[in-house]
Amino acid sequence: MLVNMKTMLLEAQKGSWAVGSFSVSNMEMVLGVLKAAEETNSPVILQIAEVRLKQSPLELIGPLMVAAAKNAKVPVAVHFDHGLTKEKIKLALDLGFTSVMFDGSHLPLEENIAKTKETVALARKYGACVEAEIGCVGGSEDGSEDIAINCTSPAQAVKFAAETQVDALAIAIGNAHGNYKETPHLRFDILSEVKASVSVPLVLHGGTGILPEEFIKCRENGIKKINIATATFDSVENTVRNAYRDNIIKGYYDLQAAEVEGAYKNAMKHIEIFDCSNKAEII
Ligand code: 13P
Repeated sequence: MLVNMKTMLLEAQKGSWAVGSFSVSNMEMVLGVLKAAEETNSPVILQIAEVRLKQSPLELIGPLMVAAAKNAKVPVAVHFDHGLTKEKIKLALDLGFTSVMFDGSHLPLEENIAKTKETVALARKYGACVEAEIGCVGGSEDGSEDIAINCTSPAQAVKFAAETQVDALAIAIGNAHGNYKETPHLRFDILSEVKASVSVPLVLHGGTGILPEEFIKCRENGIKKINIATATFDSVENTVRNAYRDNIIKGYYDLQAAEVEGAYKNAMKHIEIFDCSNKAEII
């Protein structure tokens, strides 16, 4: 069933689990993620970022994501990730996405606040919720830019959350998009300070490559939404490559099945680490 992300994150705040937010770019990935969520009875978030629309136009993938969520046996939120333009954010809302992110992390604080407030005002008209980012997560969602990590200032997080009234706040604690060059070690000192000073559910971007024990520490300390993109794409690619190597793919439909399997395996692994199995009923 299609649900609002806020409902999930507020429930997750009552425990020590987090919701996986999986980036998808085709039907096979949607099917693989939902198969894992249904098998484990987990709430889940399907998302796509604005930079990915070159490959997967929003007018096509958006209705697919919303329809898949409505059909699912578990609660599914449909989220527009790293929204950059008002035009695409509005399109996502028109298509029925239940949340949108405005990413003004590269802007000066006051401008980020002002533009985020505009997004909140727009989303409220649709009954949708909003995520925004304070500080700057490293890398870029599609790997095209090598953006430096700028860790979140807890004082700025307090001001940002109070002035914008966002429903979810992405913070930078040493995390970056894409595959890390070295194993990342997150700044739990910053996470604790932010968690102690704001009540809004926190979001961790750049989930690919974070150690399981660090994910666990995150979900126990206020991170309630964890974004996974590269790991899904890598898992789909590797599963397809191995299936060809092992002569499992005899035709197109076997290729499609291998893609679904790749997205499913990756989602299963993360759902277990995030401890969101069997949380579907409480949403
Ligand atoms: P990864 O590609 O590192 O998993 O990051 C995903 C993400 O944060 C999407 O917004």
